[in-house]
Amino acid sequence: MSTIDYQEKIPNNVNLSEDRTLKRALEHWQPNYLNWWQDMGPDGSHGFDVYLRTAVSVDPQGWAQFGHVKMPDYRWGIFLNPAEQDRKIHFGDHKGEAAWQDVPGEYRANLRRIIVTQGDTEPASVEQQRHLGLTAPSQYDLRNLFQVNVEEGRHLWAMVYLLHKYFGRDGREEGEALLERRSGQEDNPRILQAFNEPTPDWLSFYMFTYFTDRDGKFQLCALAESSFDPLARTTKFMLTEEAHHMFVGESGVSRVIQRTCQVINDLKTDDPAKIRAAGVIDLPTIQRYINFHFSVTIDLFGADESSNAATFYTTGLKGRYEEGKRTDDHVLKNDSYKVLEVRNGQLVEKEVPMLNALNEVLRDDYIKDSIGGVDRWNKVIEKAGIPFRLSVPHKAFHRNIGSLSGAKVSPQGQVVSQAEWDAYVDKWLPSVGDRQFVASLMGRVTDAGKFANWIAPPVMGINRQPVDFEYVRFN
Ligand SMILES: [Fe+2]
Ligand SMILES: [Fe+2]
Repeated sequence: MSTIDYQEKIPNNVNLSEDRTLKRALEHWQPNYLNWWQDMGPDGSHGFDVYLRTAVSVDPQGWAQFGHVKMPDYRWGIFLNPAEQDRKIHFGDHKGEAAWQDVPGEYRANLRRIIVTQGDTEPASVEQQRHLGLTAPSQYDLRNLFQVNVEEGRHLWAMVYLLHKYFGRDGREEGEALLERRSGQEDNPRILQAFNEPTPDWLSFYMFTYFTDRDGKFQLCALAESSFDPLARTTKFMLTEEAHHMFVGESGVSRVIQRTCQVINDLKTDDPAKIRAAGVIDLPTIQRYINFHFSVTIDLFGADESSNAATFYTTGLKGRYEEGKRTDDHVLKNDSYKVLEVRNGQLVEKEVPMLNALNEVLRDDYIKDSIGGVDRWNKVIEKAGIPFRLSVPHKAFHRNIGSLSGAKVSPQGQVVSQAEWDAYVDKWLPSVGDRQFVASLMGRVTDAGKFANWIAPPVMGINRQPVDFEYVRFN
């Protein structure tokens, strides 16, 4: 089961050859996917040989095989974690019953919606990032971008497999629609707003992979608990790939900070104008990028009070992060949780039924996890002896979903007037000038082992290769 069949047109470990109808349907979808990749995948990259990892088995040991591949020839396939014997549902109204191997009729619409929403984010991020290859700061970074892109493409395959196998004609139609929506396109946009924002520069890319791919991690962790066993097994395997995406983000931001600190110490000044004149990104600008990406990403968890979230949980479709490690009753009917709202110009806590607050629970788990990397970034600044610290903004800052939507709250959590907001917004969020400055630094570096001036080289290469390894052959 764990070995992947690469003889097939569509590599898989789900015995696709035994299900002729499904195989035919997916082989029909495959050229449409490849057309989408040609049109919307990384710009100008189709002839490059890229040092990529490909899954060869889903075993924890060595599932990744590395080698130079042309991306259109990447073997996108369908990989599920092995089934757990006699797996039981472990939360909600069906707790204790056997996990479902098929979709219960009454939950069909909700499950389809969950799978489509997750699936839609995968090609969206490829579209958002498609021009970045033209301004990569090094071959190493270019390779990492492409690795993330091909794996997001594979995540789309993961969701389309579920749609085709378990949702019949509706599922096939959804599979087509996933290739038709376009990030940021007015008449047919991607489903979630953060996936319609452009990713215009590499600082945005690292922030995106650190913060927004981490949203992906938390959504996938919640789906990995699902009573619908094929969804749980699919998302578990996706999570192993997702870890690398967040590494690219965390180490990318860290290297930007490291280079900036070096210049601050060389020039003995932290004056942003002087730092910028030296061609690196000043720390206050990095803070504003954090504020933007953090706030846009925590909106992805949805409204703080949500009856859908309650339904998804009680019916067993979507669990909590690390559901199995929690010691409560996993039914939550008698529990409550605190959410925030603005009342009389103040942020106040409000107690609501836990089941309705499960989006907020997941958001809070996400926030805890995302702070860890920010602490590690601060260590880089501290080590350089610079008295500046980065932080994530207050969770009420710059929100567009839920009861905090549109509230004017500073990054420190003070409710402010419209006039104060307008006066400070360019200190809190990247301004047009910030974005123009960051854009002005972006230029393509193609020589192996060379790095753009605004970013430090990584400590080590990919798959124990040297940093100056030829990660991309441009041909
Ligand atoms: Fe993904
Ligand atoms: Fe990802």
